[in-house]
Amino acid sequence: MRLDKKVYDLLNKQMNREFQASNTYLQMGAWAEDQDLTGCAKFLYKHAEEEKEHMRKIFDYILERSRQPKLGEIPSPKTNYKDVKELFDIVYKEEKDVTDSIHKITHEVWEQKDLTTFSFLQWFIDEQREEEALAVEIVGKIKIIGTQGQGVYMIDEFVGSKA
Ligand code: FEO
Repeated sequence: MRLDKKVYDLLNKQMNREFQASNTYLQMGAWAEDQDLTGCAKFLYKHAEEEKEHMRKIFDYILERSRQPKLGEIPSPKTNYKDVKELFDIVYKEEKDVTDSIHKITHEVWEQKDLTTFSFLQWFIDEQREEEALAVEIVGKIKIIGTQGQGVYMIDEFVGSKA
């Protein structure tokens, strides 16, 4: 059955948002690599790829439900960060916002009794739970280790181990 227009608009917006997250993480990875934070860069590049896969999942789903996905303009990501703490505070906020957004769409499709999209979104809900937990873990470790002296090296090792 063809996707309802409101659900289509919400999914289309989410698809573009995933693409934006991919670009943001890719750019963050470039910043990290430039600072010789190779562990962080590895982690961020991997996540950039994952976000692209999320984008593609929604893209394919919209097509499957007889609508055309519309790629929108993607704002340029920030290119400079104060330190690794600011970087991962932004990652955490981004993931929290994505979770909220996915939950809002899920609520809408539930209201509309679109159980097919409801089922499709379960994967994203589980994925966001994992991604948020990982971001919380990294932000927590940065808080414990601190960003002074060798702390940055330890953080880089830790984040790299999560890639
Ligand atoms: Fe696909 Fe991490 O949001």
